Amino acid sequence: MGVGQKPHAILVSYPLQGHVNPSVHLAIKLASRGFIITFINTQSIHHHITSKKATTTNGDEDDIFASVRKSGLDIRYTTVSDGLPVGFDRSLHHDEFMASLLHVFSAHVEETIEKIVKNATPAVNCLIADTFFVWPGKLAKKYRLLHVSFWTEAALIFTLYYHMDLLRFNGHFGCIDLREDEIDYIPGVKSINPKDLTSYLQQMDTTTVCHQIIYKAFKDAKDADFVLCNTIQELEPETISALQEKIPFFAIGPIIPTKCTKRTVSTSLWTESDCTHWLDSKPQGSVLYVSFGSYAHVSKSDLIEMANGLLQSNVYFVWVLRPDLVSSNDKNPLPEGIIKEVGDRGLFIPWCSQARVLAHQAIGGFMTHCGWNSILESIWCQVPLLCFPLYTDQFTNRKLVVDDWKIGINLCDKVQMNKLEVSQKIKQLMMKESGEEFRNAIKKVKCMLEKALMADGSSEINMDNFFKEIEGKIQ
Ligand code: UDX
Repeated sequence: MGVGQKPHAILVSYPLQGHVNPSVHLAIKLASRGFIITFINTQSIHHHITSKKATTTNGDEDDIFASVRKSGLDIRYTTVSDGLPVGFDRSLHHDEFMASLLHVFSAHVEETIEKIVKNATPAVNCLIADTFFVWPGKLAKKYRLLHVSFWTEAALIFTLYYHMDLLRFNGHFGCIDLREDEIDYIPGVKSINPKDLTSYLQQMDTTTVCHQIIYKAFKDAKDADFVLCNTIQELEPETISALQEKIPFFAIGPIIPTKCTKRTVSTSLWTESDCTHWLDSKPQGSVLYVSFGSYAHVSKSDLIEMANGLLQSNVYFVWVLRPDLVSSNDKNPLPEGIIKEVGDRGLFIPWCSQARVLAHQAIGGFMTHCGWNSILESIWCQVPLLCFPLYTDQFTNRKLVVDDWKIGINLCDKVQMNKLEVSQKIKQLMMKESGEEFRNAIKKVKCMLEKALMADGSSEINMDNFFKEIEGKIQ
């Protein structure tokens, strides 16, 4: 690279909502620092983002970054097939989708990367790819690019997967219901209970497609030149320090839409309902926001108990009832009677701009599945959490929220969902006095996030260091 020339990175995002969001914001962040980014989305993700009724903010159907490019950032954009037809129902056939990402996607992405590398000016120097991909190391080596692994989740989750062999050696891998003793041998993790491991680490069957993805992805990530992580140093200090002894690990979060994010791009895969008018009519902090992320499912019986608990609590609520929340085959899982009884106390919507809803002054609590983006967004808006983890990293994230940071409470852990507990916990979180400790605690954590993003904050310094190291390596 010539002196003063900008680094050029190809950035490939994992084709799920919770990964596309931080990847797009990372692209903007890096481009604002002087990177040239060529962003690759799958055709299916591109189709979802651009075919919504309201379409993108820039009105340009072919390029989700058109508006930020107008403001001077050099972000190029292209799409690639994930191996399945665009119209394929990836939620209904999740395993088939994952299998395609594991076995078929790499050939398509390789072809696209080869074309970009051969034709791009200036030359490409880095490949930034989601840690869950299994091929970045191989392709980076083949095209002589630096390999930057982008980890969109907590550092704690990264280290658990990184030390999977240690968990296996000690008999804690795949041991749900068999072991209850604390795990105290993972570097940088004081202690963690087996029930707080990710669902893949707990599950008895350790041969699923998702397990194969995790094994291969972490084998690949261990040799990455850099890992960028969507967390902040102050939130997970010991875990991050221990990881830094093994791998160049940079905490550069929170990578979420914030008011500091001057340039925004529409990343929602589904049409967003606007609840501003409804929220405007409610008192400050009086509304519970209920959402279980972009792909986890809830059983029908739990859903009905939740709805009855919400009714009993007498608290206002906005509930994101995704059409596939129970299953793609049961698009209206709540009985009409319950919906009628709710009346104006609650608003049911299929999808929304979560960042905007959480930022509304009427929101006072978030009943959540504990997705990592949701947690960061909720902290950013100082909204305490009611935790009902369902899948993957969400069990471990719950531990961080409830046990470590004390910014939320558990909902029906260890017991079956029941409406009485739902209503009691909602009141505990939302009421002025009982919810005070959580509001105070989350205010402090928000402050840490804000400081990390200041010019002399940890994430900005880490970003500077990452940039310098990249420059040093590609001169
Ligand atoms: C899963 C994992 O649980 C999560 O930890 C990981 O980081 C990504 O994959 P997901 O179910 O998508 O996540 O949840 P989450 O991480 O919370 O991401 C969901 C994203 O969708 C958030 O950015 C949220 O703002 C957005 N969202 C959700 C909306 O914009 N509208 C909605 O109605 C619901």
